[in-house]
Amino acid sequence: MVATLVLEINPESPDLEKIRFAARVIREGGLVAFPTETVYGLGANALDEAAVQRIFQVKNRPMDNPLIVHIADRDDVHLLAETVPAQAERLIETFWPGPLTLLLPKSELVPAVTTAGLATVAVRMPSHPIAQSLIREADVPVAAPSANLAGRPSPTSARHVWEDLSGKIEILIDGGEVGYGVESTVLDVTSDPPVLLRPGPITVTELRRVLGRVEVHPIARAEMPVEAAIAKAPGMKYRHYAPRAELVLVEGPPQAVVAKIRELAAGYDGEGKRVGIMAVAETAAEYGLALVKVVGERRNPRTIAKGLFRTLREFDAENVNVILAEGVEPTGIGLAIMNRLRKAAANIVRAG
Ligand code: TXA
Ligand code: MG
Repeated sequence: MVATLVLEINPESPDLEKIRFAARVIREGGLVAFPTETVYGLGANALDEAAVQRIFQVKNRPMDNPLIVHIADRDDVHLLAETVPAQAERLIETFWPGPLTLLLPKSELVPAVTTAGLATVAVRMPSHPIAQSLIREADVPVAAPSANLAGRPSPTSARHVWEDLSGKIEILIDGGEVGYGVESTVLDVTSDPPVLLRPGPITVTELRRVLGRVEVHPIARAEMPVEAAIAKAPGMKYRHYAPRAELVLVEGPPQAVVAKIRELAAGYDGEGKRVGIMAVAETAAEYGLALVKVVGERRNPRTIAKGLFRTLREFDAENVNVILAEGVEPTGIGLAIMNRLRKAAANIVRAG
């Protein structure tokens, strides 16, 4: 056990004293959880093997699942990557700082433990002011997976990090709620055309606007059983984001989804199970007296992305046995939402 110190920092004007204190902890080999624009990250010095090892330990993360290395300055990508292809340069100019992670051939500087022995390194420059100033003050690249226990929903507030990691890390920076609520888009730019491995806030359409061609790896859609998919991104073969309750995802046209969820809810209820329904604002009223939580609005899918992980954790707090979740259209940010839901689901049901 270590005593976890919580530092409250206002993202609009980060207190440099506190940031420097946390940055020193990182430089000295400690672990600091911090907000980014996507989800909270669990940071350590990416060049310090022992510190990186500890990230795997405290998260209970399989050692073959590589970490994303975070930088505060675009040029630092050249320290971490052996080469930066022209296509990657264009993406960096357009989307950094922001929620886009690029897979690049790794340089000698990056220890094998950080990339789980792979020849590539995942690099991202976050736009969140606390993340940026923490990395800048630490003056080292910061390896940071999402700050949850492996397999649990990613944390979108400091409270979620506390639930999973208090007593295991030195510092938790509380910078309030995150912006996007789902993790960064992961794009492999070592192949031509580049391949989308994890959908996120930067959409396929936005990437294609810059690059022309972008392939979407089947693993990004998460339609097939993950074991069967070719595990190009090692972490993506594991079941993820899962609440403690059994999640049943219902996909199809909205009205058919509502009808199917009503039917399933009645069935589980008859078995004496406590059921929660994760619905959009537009359909929430159609489920009568069931325990319904509104995740966001279908007309504005970014709100669904933002509410997704928080809602899954809220259902756990209500001790439900089953969560019935409405699917969304798998386009734009909807692809990121469906990727997370499909990977969290124990069961996927097609309606209509
Ligand atoms: O938004 C985010 O990306 C957040 C914040 C904290 O920056 N971080 C995050 O990290 O989501 P994590 O570790 O939870 O997810 C990283 C994903 C994993 O699926 C991992 O397998 C993949 O990126 N990844 C990392 N390095 C890779 C590599 N060299 N090759 C293939 N996949 C890699
Ligand atoms: Mg994660």
